Amino acid sequence: MVETKIWTAEELPDAVKALKRGALVSFPTETVYGLGADAYNERAVGKVYTAKGRPSDNPLIVHVADVEQVSDFAQVNEWAKTLMATFWPGPMTMILPVVPGVLSKTVTGGLDTVAVRLPANDLTRDLIRQVGSPLVGPSANTSGRPSPTLAKHVYHDLHGKIAGVLDDGPTKIGVESTVIDLSTDMPTVLRPGWITPEAIEEALGRSVMSQSRVLDPSEAPKAPGMKYRHYAPDKAVYMVGDDEWTQAIVWAQDQLSPVGLMLPNALIAKHQLAGMDFVWSLGDDARSAAANLFAGLRYFDDQKEVQTILVASMPAQSENAAYNNRLGKASGGHFASELWTD
Ligand code: TXA
Ligand code: MG
Repeated sequence: MVETKIWTAEELPDAVKALKRGALVSFPTETVYGLGADAYNERAVGKVYTAKGRPSDNPLIVHVADVEQVSDFAQVNEWAKTLMATFWPGPMTMILPVVPGVLSKTVTGGLDTVAVRLPANDLTRDLIRQVGSPLVGPSANTSGRPSPTLAKHVYHDLHGKIAGVLDDGPTKIGVESTVIDLSTDMPTVLRPGWITPEAIEEALGRSVMSQSRVLDPSEAPKAPGMKYRHYAPDKAVYMVGDDEWTQAIVWAQDQLSPVGLMLPNALIAKHQLAGMDFVWSLGDDARSAAANLFAGLRYFDDQKEVQTILVASMPAQSENAAYNNRLGKASGGHFASELWTD
C-alpha cells in the first residue's frame, strides 16, 4: 500500500521522479485524467493494468510531449501529418502502424498498431518532456467506472495504488479523445469525441468511416476497449428523451428513495426543478453536458439514498455523439420509458 499524494504544479519534480523510478502518476489532460507510466518501462506499464483492474487485451494510448517523439515508435503517414497539424495538441488519438521492437506487448496488446496522443495540457507536456519518455495513459478510473474529470475522482478510485495525482483542476472537455484509425486505407473513427468526423473530413478532404456503437462482446472490436460496459456508476442509469421528462419526474416523485436527475438548464427551468435536491445541471449545451456527465454520475454514486439516476439524452447529431455514446454505455442502453411501461 502506497500513500497517494495530490501534487500541485509546483510539485511537478516529485511526479517526474516517481515516473522515472517506475511508479504510477495520474496526469491531467483536456479530456479526462490519465493514469501515467513510462511507456518504455514494461514493468511500470504492467502495473497500470493491475491498478485499474483493466483486461490485458485492451491496449493503451501513448502520450507524447511533441510531434517529433511519435516517430520513435510509430509510422507517421500523410493523413497523420495533416491531422497532427490541424488538431494537435488536442483531444484526438491516432492509431498508426507501430515501429517494430520499440514498445512492449504490454503497451500495444500485441497489435501491429499503436494509439498516440499529444494532449493539450502544458503541465502534462512538461511532465512527459522531463521524464524523457512517452507515457501510457488510460483514463485514471477503476475499469468500468466513469472516467475522472477531477483529481479527487482519481484519488477516490486509485488511492493506495498509485504514487500521486498531478492536480490541474477540472478537465475542460470531460469525455475521452476521438480515436481515429489511420492504419488502413479507410480512416475510421473508433470512438466518438469532441472532434467530429465532419471536422476530420474537412481537414483530410475525404470521407471517413465511423464505428461508434456498443459492440456485442462476441464481435471482434477494432478498438478493444469499446466492447466493455463502461463509464458506469454502481446505481441504475436510464436515458430520458427531451419529451419524456414530464413522465420521468412523475415517476421519480413516486419512488420511496430519491432519484438523481441529470438534465440541461433549459429542462430544469421548464420543469421548475431549479434549486431542488438531487438535480444535477448539465449546463447549456452539448459541450457543457459532456464536461459535466461523469462528475454527475459520480456525485449520485456517492449518495447512499439514491438508487436510480435519470439522465437527459441529446438529439442524435454529430456534436452530441460523444455524450450520447458515453451515456449509452453508462446506462447499458436502457431508457427510462422501460420504467413506466410494461
Ligand atoms: O482522452 C483520452 O483519450 C484519455 C486521456 C487520459 O488521454 N485516455 C483514454 O484512454 O481514454 P483509454 O485507455 O481509456 O482508452 C483508449 C482506447 C481504448 O478503447 C482502446 O481499446 C483503444 O483506445 N486503443 C488503444 N490502442 C489501440 C489500437 N492499437 N487499435 C485500436 N484501438 C486502440
Ligand atoms: Mg477509459
